[in-house]
Amino acid sequence: MPKSKTAFFCRNCGAQSPKWIGRCPACGEWNSYEEEVVKIEGKTVRREDGKRSHQPVRVHEIRGDEGKRRSTLNGELDRVLGGGLVPGSLILVGGEPGIGKSTLLLQIALQMKDQKILYVTGEESALQIRMRADRVGMKNQDCFILTETNTEVILQHLDEIEPSLVIIDSIQTLQTDIIDSSAGSISQIRECAAEMQRYAKTTAVPVILIGHITKDGSLAGPKILEHMVDTVLHFEGDRNYGYRILRAVKNRFGPASELGIYEMHDNGLREVKNPSEILISQRDEAVSGVAIAASVEGLRPMLIEIQALVSTAAYGTPQRSATGFDVRRMNMLLAVLEKRSGFRLGAKDVFLNIAGGLKVDDPAIDLAVVAAILSSNADISIDQKTCFAAEVGLSGEIRAVSRVEQRVAEAEKLGFERIVVSKFNKKSLNQRKSTIGIVFTGSISDVVKSIF
Ligand code: TYD
Ligand code: MG
Repeated sequence: MPKSKTAFFCRNCGAQSPKWIGRCPACGEWNSYEEEVVKIEGKTVRREDGKRSHQPVRVHEIRGDEGKRRSTLNGELDRVLGGGLVPGSLILVGGEPGIGKSTLLLQIALQMKDQKILYVTGEESALQIRMRADRVGMKNQDCFILTETNTEVILQHLDEIEPSLVIIDSIQTLQTDIIDSSAGSISQIRECAAEMQRYAKTTAVPVILIGHITKDGSLAGPKILEHMVDTVLHFEGDRNYGYRILRAVKNRFGPASELGIYEMHDNGLREVKNPSEILISQRDEAVSGVAIAASVEGLRPMLIEIQALVSTAAYGTPQRSATGFDVRRMNMLLAVLEKRSGFRLGAKDVFLNIAGGLKVDDPAIDLAVVAAILSSNADISIDQKTCFAAEVGLSGEIRAVSRVEQRVAEAEKLGFERIVVSKFNKKSLNQRKSTIGIVFTGSISDVVKSIF
């Protein structure tokens, strides 16, 4: 009987220690150590001497076609990945339970026609998958479902089937015989992910891992999981809305912060090709407290609606809350309005909302936030054909933003008649022949003059 031994692992960084410690010396996290059984003696896998699978090669001798991307036939996913699947890449898709991770990836597997795909599930039965497949519609005849959680067995099946894409639902259900601890524990997750990584790199087959997310929004399991994989995607969205956002958090092969938008329907997720049209609510008449921002998410311009409500505080301390926008940034903008422009907002409740359940951190929406707040405060609506794209600085100055041409072009395409930008963006917009009116502003009072 091989002897098993236990050790303590940091939940945050995966560091190992023979005894429990209160504070991780590697990452500084408090109270993050958990006891787990480690490698059973005699079961360690060791590579035989002299059998090296890889040799050093000169960089120009590496064959170029190995780096070719393959489309997933899903435009939004391709965009988020930076143009398709890179051979041998390991991709982690994280998201809260019930957000639609399994649906998304099963759909991808069923969409990729004429490609052999293995979908490994440790969470649902084959019948449940079948029911879901019926729901989202099947095109790919070569999509295999495997209900298995043992990594060694999965790897055997992979050798037999030789798929061109592997999907694992989810990494937390996998377990390997090398380690004795239960599935979902730190060392199991780490070891299983390492085995899948080895598989991906040696066979050049892309592997997509689905991962759960803990309450605080980080991926369950050690943080090093995120370091190991090539790409980390977050699938997020408000469950009250039908929209789901797939966001690249880390991407070795493409731009991070790129995002794809889906809409959840009865028959699965549908791609949203033209987000601006759905993110702006259609109204017949203008209401106060609404301003449209020309934002850029990743590389894609997108018009979004900012809604603000300013009212006299019912209690002593005014309430400030923001959905989809950083509250601290909103407080800063309010302070700028108070101090630099003389608007008395100190005793007012301010609520801010970005329509559609979107979270935005593009600084170019600052001006639209300010405009929405001022509009609600004065109870005067802003012209519906006007939008904004500028950052607001601490001294109340209107600052230039990046990709301003793209923003203007998107606003023009959607039929806006006026866009308010910073005067410092003048240079990059001078050559442009446009039908949209561009208003250059330098200060908040300029903006107020131009919109009210
Ligand atoms: P699921 O993919 O199981 O989520 P996860 O794998 O992230 O836990 O998503 C399940 C949710 O999606 C569930 O609430 C039902 C809903 N859904 C639809 O609205 N339409 C559909 O066609 C499908 C398959 C699921
Ligand atoms: Mg699932």
